[in-house]
Amino acid sequence: MDGFNLPLLLALTAGGAVLVWRRANTLTWLLFSWAALWAFFKFGFTVPMPQSVATIYLGITTLALVCYASASRERLAEVTSPIVRLIREPRYRLPLAALLVALPALAAYNVHADMNVPLEAPGFGREVHPSPPATMEVHGETLDMATADNPYIHLHEDDPAAYEEHLENGRRVYYENCFWCHGDGMGGDGMFAHGLNPVPSNFNDSGTLPILQASFVHWRIALGAPGLPAGGTPWDSAMPAWEKFLTTEEMWDVNLFIYDFNGFEPRALGQH
Ligand code: HEC
Repeated sequence: MDGFNLPLLLALTAGGAVLVWRRANTLTWLLFSWAALWAFFKFGFTVPMPQSVATIYLGITTLALVCYASASRERLAEVTSPIVRLIREPRYRLPLAALLVALPALAAYNVHADMNVPLEAPGFGREVHPSPPATMEVHGETLDMATADNPYIHLHEDDPAAYEEHLENGRRVYYENCFWCHGDGMGGDGMFAHGLNPVPSNFNDSGTLPILQASFVHWRIALGAPGLPAGGTPWDSAMPAWEKFLTTEEMWDVNLFIYDFNGFEPRALGQH
């Protein structure tokens, strides 16, 4: 029963049992069925369900109930006779008056509630740089976040020609995969950026790459949005988990390239 609101289902079943026991009339059954279906569509699922789907189902079941009620003259009479009695018989004056006030009041309340949805940002913010886990697993290899570093960074000093090759490879990786979102000039303004919330990170910004360790950037590239802890929500980031598409070397190379392109250096290891 995963995904269903069990207490509600039990309550609705119990409600049905009471109606059987009291030998409820057809009108009561119809009203109960409608209300039970409404409650089921609205609260019956623990997984999110689009309102439009609930509305379509409720519309179809409402039609089905109307068809059922009007399928024969006898049944229609069964359904309408309690209503006619409520209107006609003097002993129902009070409930009738209450109903005549309650129905328009309910409609008015609904309109009021619909028109007064406060337009507020969510009360809690998204952490742009949430604390990373202590270790990360990329391509089955466990890396310590505090000590892992770009394995090619030392080539900058030791073998500039080899370093250039890694940079070139990083450039290729970037312009094949990343510029769509992060932009030609890495300003976070790629052609897809406008449709995204949160927007892609702007790597020109001196408040982004220089404050991050290379290992943090590797974590974000390799594991993307799916790797973010809860602090990285409430909006879902579109950042893909690149370990599924790139080799470890390609990910470290593009890491080198985005720093080099912007003239930044990663925050040193162990620096706070
Ligand atoms: C589909 C759009 C998209 C693509 C393609 C994409 N990114 Fe991102 N990226 C994002 C978004 C959106 C964010 C900001 C939200 C977040 O932090 O997850 C982001 C964040 C990041 C961050 C985190 C920066 C920070 O401030 O913490 C890094 C690093 C990054 N991207 C690198 C890359 C690299 C490298 C590539 C290419 C291999 C790439 N991205 C491709 C959408 C994308």
